[in-house]
Amino acid sequence: MTVNIVGAGLAGLSCAYTLAKKGVKCNLISLQPSERAQSVMAEGGINASLNTMGENDSVIEHFLDTMKGAVDLADPNAVLGLCRNAPSLIEMLDKLGVPFSKNSVGIIQRNFGGQKKKRTAFVKSSTGKIVMTALIDTVRKYENRQLITRYSHHKFERLIIENGECKGVIVRDTYNDELKSFCGAVVLCTGGMNGLFEGLTTGTVNNTSDVTATVFEQGVQLANLEFLQYHPTTVEMQQKRFLISEAARGEGARLFINKNGRRWYFMEEKYPELGNLMPRDVVSAEIIKVTAMPECENTVYLDMTPISKDIWENRLSDLKEQCNHYLSVNPQKTPLPVSPGIHYFMGGIYVNENHMASINGLYAAGECACQYHGANRLGGNSLLGALYGGKIAGESVSKIDTEFILNSKTEKFPDKKVSHEISKEISKILSESLKILRNENDLKTAEDKLKFLLNKDLNDAEKKRVNLALATVMCALSRKESRGAHRRVDYPNIDENFRKTTIVSLVNGKIEISYSEIPELRNKNEVKS
Ligand code: FUM
Repeated sequence: MTVNIVGAGLAGLSCAYTLAKKGVKCNLISLQPSERAQSVMAEGGINASLNTMGENDSVIEHFLDTMKGAVDLADPNAVLGLCRNAPSLIEMLDKLGVPFSKNSVGIIQRNFGGQKKKRTAFVKSSTGKIVMTALIDTVRKYENRQLITRYSHHKFERLIIENGECKGVIVRDTYNDELKSFCGAVVLCTGGMNGLFEGLTTGTVNNTSDVTATVFEQGVQLANLEFLQYHPTTVEMQQKRFLISEAARGEGARLFINKNGRRWYFMEEKYPELGNLMPRDVVSAEIIKVTAMPECENTVYLDMTPISKDIWENRLSDLKEQCNHYLSVNPQKTPLPVSPGIHYFMGGIYVNENHMASINGLYAAGECACQYHGANRLGGNSLLGALYGGKIAGESVSKIDTEFILNSKTEKFPDKKVSHEISKEISKILSESLKILRNENDLKTAEDKLKFLLNKDLNDAEKKRVNLALATVMCALSRKESRGAHRRVDYPNIDENFRKTTIVSLVNGKIEISYSEIPELRNKNEVKS
């Protein structure tokens, strides 16, 4: 059998590597080569309770922090698997040659948001790039043995679905426009939905959201679309937001605002335990609140001057270079104005613990899937989620019989794109409503505008994108509570009746929302001990 992996970032590579080690063949299909995937941009590190810092860290503490960050909305069985496997995955990366920072005890770990222990392994602040380099090199060996066949510069067009089962995928060779169909199970590893917020995220514009929009239209269920992560420390740039890695705060940087003419370190005062390293949803919401206070100026600064020279040189030299290069600021000398920017999509394609999507033969892993992060992701858990999720998806798909016979023919259809105008319009509507602090009025206005847009003369790709945007707004409207990254000023509290996964489907052209229960933790005793 041959498995079709769409997307060659960290989740895709991890899935391909897992399959190849089992001797299962796969096609690794992607619009961009792995070197240009979003995973390359991940900066601060990857979490695992290696317990190398003398803090008595454990898998259970990693689990509890992740569940707390997710505000109990993640599948606890999946999260326990993630945390339990994290140390061996870091060991694997170490063996593959990832040059993690080390001391005489082992891999050094730094503080990261929402975590009580130093748990984030890193390679300066270019962790994603170096991890990807190691995996790209590793899978080459299997490419040479014809276990992995790469199809770079191939664009996903649609799934082949017959009798409610995914039987393959149709892709377009972007060099010659030729359509190809690949038979077999499909694993989508296509990243976050940055295109919904064109130019407003820290992520790559190459992740347009169009794969998710297409499979949604084809009947695949999505989940938790209302949970968008705003990273607290970003800077506006042309075309995207510049990310100041949480690693800076992990190494001692402090947030302040000028209040009545004096610096106010509001996070430290309001949250004495974790201070500047509270989970991102909390820090971002606090930034919005303090900038609205009449006694405060309207800018929050990140003061990186407390970081020692040694740390800058040995752990953050690349961040310093980036600040110099892109912002013309020396962060060792000057506090930097920052504001929250969209960084990560906790929601996406609905998958179970084994990364199976809502139709047979289809799997998803990495940021395009809804797994592990619930209402808010902890920094350092995204590289881990992609690596582990790709592995689990690979293991699951290797167990099924995918000797499908295709009955349908690959029909010709023209390649229509979302126009810049429509993309910008969607992005404007969403950013005006899916804010850090949301309210019913704005969300209803967005819903009306998107419905109006749907009635315009749109091409297929545009219709799909608008439908995905509408589904996102409807998820946010339906969740009448505040939890994690979804904060409603009209429903400011957590409502335990909403401790459920939002499921959204397109049925006969109509968007339908339902909720599914969060699974019970199977092994409760393990967590108690
Ligand atoms: O701030 C950061 O370095 C981001 C890391 C992450 O999103 O995991």
